[in-house]
Amino acid sequence: MSKQGNSYKIIVLAGDGIGPEIIKQAEKTIRAIEFKFNHSFDLIYSDFGAISIDKHGIPFTLETENLCLESDAILLGAIGDPKYDNDPTIKVRPEQGLLALRKVLGLFSNIRPLKIYDSLKEISPLKSDRIQNVDIEIYRELTGGIYFGEKEFNEITNTAYDICSYSEIEIRRIAIKAFEAAGKRKNKLTLVDKANVLATSKLWRQVVKEIQLDYPNVVVDFMYVDNAAMQLLINPSQFDVLLTENMFGDILSDEASVLSGSIGLLPSASIGEKHALFEPIHGSYPQAKGKGIANPIATILSVAMMMDYFNLTEEATMIREAVDFVIENKILTPDLNPIDAFSTDYVGDVIACLIESELPLENISLENALANRMTII
Ligand code: IPM
Ligand code: MG
Repeated sequence: MSKQGNSYKIIVLAGDGIGPEIIKQAEKTIRAIEFKFNHSFDLIYSDFGAISIDKHGIPFTLETENLCLESDAILLGAIGDPKYDNDPTIKVRPEQGLLALRKVLGLFSNIRPLKIYDSLKEISPLKSDRIQNVDIEIYRELTGGIYFGEKEFNEITNTAYDICSYSEIEIRRIAIKAFEAAGKRKNKLTLVDKANVLATSKLWRQVVKEIQLDYPNVVVDFMYVDNAAMQLLINPSQFDVLLTENMFGDILSDEASVLSGSIGLLPSASIGEKHALFEPIHGSYPQAKGKGIANPIATILSVAMMMDYFNLTEEATMIREAVDFVIENKILTPDLNPIDAFSTDYVGDVIACLIESELPLENISLENALANRMTII
């Protein structure tokens, strides 16, 4: 999607916990891109999640909804607060806001890329040879399945259920996107399901087999989710595009993130027919709130995915190169650099400086990068 005049309206939902801190760094990145490329990004902040429950009684107000519906894109930090955990009697939770947002905007395809950085290989809990050549794009269905089926918690009989249902249309529309992506990558698609047990998984296989006929160059693998969880650790480089339903995708993307060294590195894009939302895959990390230790990179890379969505390819590349630079030079938060850690703000400043810099990144030394940063604060 490209807009005339290069002007974009972005709704920013900073949310809870570390959300506002990481969003602040993403805003610096957006401002740096705006400055460098002469775009105009109109950032409109709105309440969402636990903070919205505190202020308005609900996690996703009509005001926020209307703003999102009229936006070119949405940038989300994180939502969730421990005060809602471990209390089944609580009726309103921040997560309900996120699910409603995804549903209302029709954000059915959630794309979670996993990249391994050479200089972080020793941080990965997996041996270096196992993560060689790992480059996976997870396509997680985001508006169907068990997350959205009918639910009941019967306090009298102490029974509960969550129904998992999928229609052909819901499967087809994300599967097509995943096939298209595989065609531009290594031409491999793995459908992860539980077709030996679940009716919905059988439907997924049937629909994917039909679509496969239109993509003869794409090799398709079918894998049960229990095996996939194991294969991600034993032989992750076998995956290219991994397509799966909502809950399996939630679980497998957290598992996959571990290979990279930190969940704080993984961005995501949630794309529908008309709307798009960009958010890190991690949660609100309440224990870290206000400590300046949260990793802002997943959110900054989510901004890069937003630039791709706007068809601003050069801008997206520049963000990714600045991120590569801080990773290579270990200008990183404690999750990735426990001994010699930098703060959330510091990492965000350096990335913004690198983007704004007139010099090509290969000519920038670590000293220059750090000194440059001093000029903007
Ligand atoms: C994610 C999160 C959400 C999900 C939660 C916060 C509802 O874990 O985006 O992966 O389960 O989808
Ligand atoms: Mg998750």
